[in-house]
Amino acid sequence: MAIKKVGVVGCGLMGSGIAQVSAESGYETMVKEIDQQFLDKGLSMIQKNLDKGVEKGKVTEDFKKKVLDKIKGTLKDGDLAECDLVVEAIVEEIEAKKQLFAALDKICKPSAIFATNTSSLRVTEMAAATSRPGRVVGMHFFNPVQVMKLVEIVKTLVTPKDVLQEVYEFCKGIKKVAILAKDSPGFVVNRLLAPYFVEAVKALERGLATVEDIDNGMRLGSGYPMGPLTLLDFVGIDTVYRALSSMYEEFKEPQFAPPPLMKKMVLLNYLGRKTGKGFYDYSVELPKVNELNI
Ligand code: 3HC
Repeated sequence: MAIKKVGVVGCGLMGSGIAQVSAESGYETMVKEIDQQFLDKGLSMIQKNLDKGVEKGKVTEDFKKKVLDKIKGTLKDGDLAECDLVVEAIVEEIEAKKQLFAALDKICKPSAIFATNTSSLRVTEMAAATSRPGRVVGMHFFNPVQVMKLVEIVKTLVTPKDVLQEVYEFCKGIKKVAILAKDSPGFVVNRLLAPYFVEAVKALERGLATVEDIDNGMRLGSGYPMGPLTLLDFVGIDTVYRALSSMYEEFKEPQFAPPPLMKKMVLLNYLGRKTGKGFYDYSVELPKVNELNI
């Protein structure tokens, strides 16, 4: 069975990106949100992204229209009934994800595959909340989804080969490169990225170097496109904090323990770009360092 109709649940930064790349590759894409305001915001992010593509001459007006025609928005789970694949990109909370998949399990056809975009929660726990555990996998995308080439496919103890094959084919269909990982918090990429983030924040906390020097060090000395603190602001300090917490809870290894500075920043709503301030202040034309009493 080939995947033709795709559902995306959650139209935030990740969900809107997933919906866009799906529609761009010709899949009928149904996007579900919990309220109209979130849906409108997500769909307008897609529209703006495509507008930018047109401005830059990367896509034509005609292509943009075709992509937008492929995307339908809805507030009802029932509209996902005909999807062959449903990818969730909702809040990174296990109970919310389990509830969502349990509900979709009753609505979607038995052949439908469910995928979670979780970065650090157990796919197995979500699979076990459904009557089709073998058809629940991880599909972990990277931010910005439109640009980052990778998808981590996560298999559980009970994922059959044919399901993996369908998911691989879909990744190929949306022009992504897939790697396969077992169901272990952080999978491959975040397992390696997490200690890097932790060490960058600890370096700042301990006064080893300034925000800019830590970032320039890794950007210019190691060839990363962004320094670690810029990347933390980009991904969201709360998102990384939550991912680190669940990895630390699982492995009890110090390299995953979120540093106190991150916790304090989350408490103060200094989450990075999305709240306007993180390690940098984005309220000005050219982002500058957010002066904190560290
Ligand atoms: N949508 C579409 N295109 C985009 C885009 C977006 N959201 N953001 C950037 N681009 C395109 C630009 O249009 C530009 O295209 P062009 O070269 O054809 O003009 C190209 O990407 C480069 O963008 P910019 O010139 O604006 O800026 P940069 O060269 O700094 O690139 C970046 C931006 C691609 C975000 C780059 O800085 C980068 O790769 N950063 C690292 C991102 C990263 O590591 N992501 C993974 C985070 S971890 C994660 O997501 C996992 C989670 O579980 C925590």
